[in-house]
Amino acid sequence: MYKVLSLLFVLLSVIFAVQACAGDYDPSKVTIGGNCPATSFAQWKQLDEGVVLNPTDIPIDELVIHQAGMAHVIEVAKALNKKFVASIYFPNGTLACIGVNTGSPNMIAHGETVAINNCTALYGIKSFTNFTLYTTGEPCAMCAGALVWADFKTIVWGTFNRDLYCKICMSNIPMDSSYIFARAFGLGANKAPRVIGGVLRAQSDAWFGSYCSRPTSIYYIKPECACNKAISVSQRVVTSYSGYTQFEVSLVNYGPAVQGMIVQSDYTLGNNDIWTLNSTLAASGVAPNTYTFYPYKDLFNANEVLTFGYRIQGSYAANFTLQFNYAS
Ligand SMILES: *[C@@H]1O[C@H](CO)[C@@H](O)[C@H](O)[C@H]1NC(C)=O
Ligand SMILES: *[C@@H]1O[C@H](CO)[C@@H](O)[C@H](O)[C@H]1NC(C)=O
Ligand SMILES: *[C@@H]1O[C@H](CO)[C@@H](O)[C@H](O)[C@H]1NC(C)=O
Ligand SMILES: *[C@@H]1O[C@H](CO)[C@@H](O)[C@H](O)[C@H]1NC(C)=O
Ligand SMILES: *[C@@H]1O[C@H](CO)[C@@H](O)[C@H](O)[C@H]1NC(C)=O
Repeated sequence: MYKVLSLLFVLLSVIFAVQACAGDYDPSKVTIGGNCPATSFAQWKQLDEGVVLNPTDIPIDELVIHQAGMAHVIEVAKALNKKFVASIYFPNGTLACIGVNTGSPNMIAHGETVAINNCTALYGIKSFTNFTLYTTGEPCAMCAGALVWADFKTIVWGTFNRDLYCKICMSNIPMDSSYIFARAFGLGANKAPRVIGGVLRAQSDAWFGSYCSRPTSIYYIKPECACNKAISVSQRVVTSYSGYTQFEVSLVNYGPAVQGMIVQSDYTLGNNDIWTLNSTLAASGVAPNTYTFYPYKDLFNANEVLTFGYRIQGSYAANFTLQFNYAS
């Protein structure tokens, strides 16, 4: 009897275990590890880039502090005739140390990494929990990773990577640091820093100047970017059939890279910088132009084109409008 019950228990366990794994594996919904069926691939959750706050998002009393921090690194940069300078502040707001990218002793001695090592040498700091870092140029992919490992609370910069690479023709890894910062969850729930870009942007950009006409400089790169002037929204019906209307809307950025917009979870990144949003808005009785896409993602880099289609139940006239939330 005991053996039969044990066997039954084992059988039930197997059945429950199989049931627990049943269904499509959806990485975006898996939050507890170790439960992938052996036949499936492990995959972390899919993420877009994180939020980069703008000066206009920051309360004025706090912004004044960040402007002072930025003014200081720009001032030091000018005094030393260097481009990339970073500073680190204690949680109480006192300056702890600075770091200057001098290319020495090697190419990974960036302002941020030099400052981190400097502060550690000076004070023995191992983890920068609740510290703030300022940097003239947005952290590169390497430094963004370092800042997450170091557990900074707040990160502030003047000049964006996009501008460094695309407008200033300075060699850089063409990636928004927010891509890395958004993945801080991998080091712990509270590791995501608060990120503020573009503080004293004009001054910082001016100090970087331009390498575009200096192809012999070691910093020069011929950027693989495109420059445009303004956002234009065009709208056209691509197919129409009984009860349904299919639209294709192309949004072309003719201006500087902007914050904002979109996206539903079901977009894909196509070839040649084309983002495809494939969202079905099926709520019958809801006019399509009342639908809200919540802005949280940097969508438009220069020359990026967004193409998407949607279907409307019913017989609404086609009239798609979008509101963009600009950063600059
Ligand atoms: C801020 O903290 C640092 C490190 O503990 C300390 O050296 C400094 O005196 C503090 N500053 C103020 C104004 O309390
Ligand atoms: C380290 O920081 C201190 C304090 O800001 C600064 O005086 C010094 O020049 C820095 N050293 C390096 C190597 O950047
Ligand atoms: C960081 O700041 C938070 C909020 O003030 C505080 O609860 C926490 O103890 C601080 N952590 C460290 C290591 O200072
Ligand atoms: C849009 O979604 C439909 C239904 O899920 C799918 O069949 C189609 O391939 C998708 N189109 C694009 C461009 O992703
Ligand atoms: C589209 O909707 C907007 C906002 O309601 C309106 O101003 C505009 O006239 C409409 N265009 C067409 C072609 O219906």
